Amino acid sequence: MGPVADTLEVLHAEDEHFDIVFIDADQRNAVQYYSFVMDNHLLSMDAVICVENTLMKGQVYLENVSDENAGVVKDDVFWGCSHRRILERLRLDGRVAYVTGGGQGIGRAFAHALGEAGAKVAVVDLVLAKAEAVACELSLKGIKSLALAADVSKPEDVQRMVDAIVARWGTVHIACNNAGINLNSASEETSLEEWDKTFNVNLRGLFLCCQAAGRIMLNQGYGKIINTASMASLIVPHPQKQLAYNTSKAGVVKLTQTLGAEWIDRGVKVNCISPGIVDTPLIRSRELRPLVQRWLADIPAGRLAQPTDLQAAVVYLASEASDYMTGHNLVIEGGQSLW
Ligand SMILES: NC(=O)c1ccc[n+]([C@@H]2O[C@H](COP(=O)([O-])OP(=O)(O)OC[C@H]3O[C@@H](n4cnc5c(N)ncnc54)[C@H](O)[C@@H]3O)[C@@H](O)[C@H]2O)c1
Repeated sequence: MGPVADTLEVLHAEDEHFDIVFIDADQRNAVQYYSFVMDNHLLSMDAVICVENTLMKGQVYLENVSDENAGVVKDDVFWGCSHRRILERLRLDGRVAYVTGGGQGIGRAFAHALGEAGAKVAVVDLVLAKAEAVACELSLKGIKSLALAADVSKPEDVQRMVDAIVARWGTVHIACNNAGINLNSASEETSLEEWDKTFNVNLRGLFLCCQAAGRIMLNQGYGKIINTASMASLIVPHPQKQLAYNTSKAGVVKLTQTLGAEWIDRGVKVNCISPGIVDTPLIRSRELRPLVQRWLADIPAGRLAQPTDLQAAVVYLASEASDYMTGHNLVIEGGQSLW
């Protein structure tokens, strides 16, 4: 109530922002109110302003209006791509994701991150109890989740996993192929059994998952695949000996590059994350635990990675914000591969 100009001053002083402003005034005042609203940023982003009585003798009434914003480029950079600002473009609302090896360690952190960003998450693990525990954590946070048991090295398990997710949520948009194992031995002593076991999970399993999820994604013309490789794809971590592991992870990077190039024109982006040494049960074995102090000397960051250090990367690669990225190996290792 009261004179409009005074009311506008009060709203401005109170730092109010509006989604809709309706101006009903004669032409001269309409221009004044419009200018006040615009100059003092009373509109929130993407707001609507409606102005009555804008025409005078069939022309837009613009007497004495100087456009101080002339020269400002109002393109996608200004407004946000598809009118979505950067944090909105990282959101995963309505997306369906799965994470293999999601029952602990890095996979558990990925499952939480994707869920926090808005996705429904199927937690997949060799051990059902672990998958169930993480799925339960997610539902405590209001995230829609599903626990599934699967051995990713078995084609029938992988198909069953994908079928179960599709049966529950209709499709798969985000595939996090993260399950992996690390066995240690000097190369001259590496048994064929160790080699096969490592490759069966780390490379064959990952290929089976990419293929099963990829078929659905190619069919729908959209998908994001995020594989977990390792810094061991780039350097030879030491002093532990892990020929089969290093080689399998180099294979993950090449598989990612190949699928990334082959599938991008059908809407499916394939990237991988290469963590440095992450503080998870994987490195808490009897052989590896005593090496932590040695590793720290090789890490510019001066500490091991925590699973949380990787969470933003998986959300980025799962989101539309990374749509032009494919076949990339995103290395997160506190600088270790630089020394
Ligand atoms: N921890 C690190 O330092 C590190 C560094 C670089 C890369 N990585 C990679 O990150 C991934 C996750 O590692 P992490 O440290 O969380 O390991 P982790 O051992 O803590 O967890 C791995 C999970 O995968 C599950 N799993 C194992 N084999 C499986 C199979 N055949 N099918 C389904 N699930 C299976 C396990 O039950 C476990 O819950 C692995 O691919 C690993 O190689 C780990």
